[in-house]
Amino acid sequence: MGHPVAPAPPGRPGRTGVGVDVGVGVGVGVGSASQEEQWEAHCRGWKVIDDAFMAYLGAHDEVPDRWLLIQTLATAASRRRLLATLGVRSGWRLLDIGTGFGPVPMELAVTAAVDALGVDIAEPALRVADAVCVEAARRGAFPPDSRVTFVTGDAYELEEPDASFDLATARFLFQHLRDHAAAASELARVVKPGGLACVIDVDEGLSVTYPERSAAYSRLAEALHDMQERRGGGRRVARTLPACLDRAGFDVSGVLLIPETDYRPSRPNDPHRTFLLERFGAARAALVGEFIPADEFDDCLGRFATETIDAECVLGGHVAVIGRRRH
Ligand SMILES: C[S@@+](CC[C@H](N)C(=O)[O-])C[C@H]1O[C@@H](n2cnc3c(N)ncnc32)[C@H](O)[C@@H]1O
Repeated sequence: MGHPVAPAPPGRPGRTGVGVDVGVGVGVGVGSASQEEQWEAHCRGWKVIDDAFMAYLGAHDEVPDRWLLIQTLATAASRRRLLATLGVRSGWRLLDIGTGFGPVPMELAVTAAVDALGVDIAEPALRVADAVCVEAARRGAFPPDSRVTFVTGDAYELEEPDASFDLATARFLFQHLRDHAAAASELARVVKPGGLACVIDVDEGLSVTYPERSAAYSRLAEALHDMQERRGGGRRVARTLPACLDRAGFDVSGVLLIPETDYRPSRPNDPHRTFLLERFGAARAALVGEFIPADEFDDCLGRFATETIDAECVLGGHVAVIGRRRH
């Protein structure tokens, strides 16, 4: 504890390089620690990351895609359960493509002394990721020698050399991509032979809500999904990913369902309602006109904001596909 955080390395030419050596920490990943002690140490590190995110949210009124940041925090438990199963070892080089606010590289860097790189096409999210990572490092989230760096980059044209990573991850990225084969082949290019890929995404076929969602909510969600499909992504992508990784050169060793279930009140001002209102609100400019008339959008948003459902039961999950790069 107490070592200063090393300054960020300079960015490579033509990229935004934001990075931090996270050479401080709680000493996780030590060989002699029991599994239980190790898990507790991971949880302590992850809690520090949560605190750094919350501190960032508290200190900044304007956060790009704030709803996504809230979602990042809300889905932390299931994400971490999965990441902990990947068997990441000290010394590994990790790549997370479409990293957003960077939860995956940061959380993996808690579990072992790794060199983790988060890449995203959107620079504003990376700036938040970097600031949160620096703060998490300052507060001692990471083991000594872990390093987390964020750079801008395109999933279709990564700047990383061939066969340079032990593990590449992409969470909720493929639902936004038009050409899955091209992205998977680029992912395969940068993973070492024998290395791992873990691709996590959604599939609407897995989702049940009882009682059924209101007409106002359903109309807004439909517009959002239409937009995602038109842009080349989709909400039924998970079922296609095992074959996609297989064709790209991975032996698929696991297709896991990560449960996301809930039973919750759904009233005006509940946190989940507020989150959804923010999410729809943030998409208004992109949706109205092309996917829903402006007056219908505003009417639906107004009705959704005030409706009360005593409680809703949500059954669903995310899918994680794990593959090993063929030699
Ligand atoms: C839903 S977010 C997921 C963020 C993060 N992986 C997570 O699990 O919280 C999808 C991310 O993919 C990024 N993205 C979309 N297209 C991309 C591309 N072609 N190359 C790199 N990133 C991309 C977006 O900017 C966004 O940050």
